[in-house]
Amino acid sequence: MSIKLDPWGHYVIEDYGRLINEFGLEPIDKIEPLLPIKHRFVERRIIFAHRDLNTWLKGLLSGEKSIVLTGFMPSGQPHLGTAMVFEELKLFQSMGANVKIVIADAEAYSVRREDRRELIERGAEFVAQAIAWGVDPQRAEFYYQTAMKSEYYRLIQMFSRKVSMAEMEAIYGEISPAKIVSSLTQVADILHPQLEEFGGYKNVLVPVGVDQDPHIRLARDIADRFAAELELRRPSSIYHKLLRGLDGNKMSKSRPEYAIHLTEDPSVAVKKLMNALTGGRATAEEQRRLGGEPWKCMVFELYMYHLADNEAELKEIYDNCVNGRILCGECKRRAGEKLVTLLRDHQKRVAEVKSSNLVDKILVKPSF
Ligand code: TRP
Ligand code: SF4
Repeated sequence: MSIKLDPWGHYVIEDYGRLINEFGLEPIDKIEPLLPIKHRFVERRIIFAHRDLNTWLKGLLSGEKSIVLTGFMPSGQPHLGTAMVFEELKLFQSMGANVKIVIADAEAYSVRREDRRELIERGAEFVAQAIAWGVDPQRAEFYYQTAMKSEYYRLIQMFSRKVSMAEMEAIYGEISPAKIVSSLTQVADILHPQLEEFGGYKNVLVPVGVDQDPHIRLARDIADRFAAELELRRPSSIYHKLLRGLDGNKMSKSRPEYAIHLTEDPSVAVKKLMNALTGGRATAEEQRRLGGEPWKCMVFELYMYHLADNEAELKEIYDNCVNGRILCGECKRRAGEKLVTLLRDHQKRVAEVKSSNLVDKILVKPSF
């Protein structure tokens, strides 16, 4: 049976290899040696696949105008999943790229039906969080989908002429008017940097969670169709795996007790961590004898994504777990200490960013 990815759904992906086959993604393996900077996300295959990353890298390294563009809906509180995108932006900035970050307030308004005023406020909050995480504001641009120049909206109108309903349904499954407009808006996000008005960046890379691939496919098809008229090229993309909630199920805004938010009190975060699903055995005796199962463990997932600083440390935790040399209580306490440090440092920087009023200076808020 063929699979569909729903960019608006919440679900756990079981088999990433299957996605590579089904959608013709390229595994990250071959390109890893070509990356000018190493990163744990690539080493650990959290960034596991791409489309045409080689093209983008070649452009960047040969001095072509290159940009990285991604975005997020400003709904709920930014959490450790959101921070993955911040981390990727930092990585590409360190390779010398400029980045552009979309606050998808139009999408959140239409599809998630969220309160307009709150979305605008939270958009600014996300920007502060991104900068605090380490995105360099000197080489980043942030914008709201609803506060752009008219040429951006013109693109949405033009794109609507060259897509059929059958094609939208083949990509997205059942689709509503709100979702159609949102997907064409996202295509405008992805393609607009190529226009002269917006800098003429022909070399665009979009880092996203793999659930966003339907939008990438649509953007690449539309780029082909407007290759002559607008001189558009296909964008490149990279895909990361989706961080799960602490119980191993979908991470979702409606289940805050299973997500760790960047803004929350570190002691509350640690309490959540202590209740996380692990790969531990029923008794200590059994765990010493059989070892734990880190591949089932959300604490290990946190070490993988955020808490283990280097490969040696990650391997040590893994080995100690499978060999029964460490029990879950101690392992969680160690993770908890790291999490507290991470959150404290981050929150301190958020406070600094906020007191500098930087966000007000660089972000143009929509007027209504
Ligand atoms: N749809 C994305 C999300 O749900 C947000 C988004 C909007 C986006 N425009 C984008 C992501 C362009 C990447 C590129 O998080
Ligand atoms: Fe997870 Fe650590 Fe327990 Fe292993 S020992 S199952 S990694 S919490």
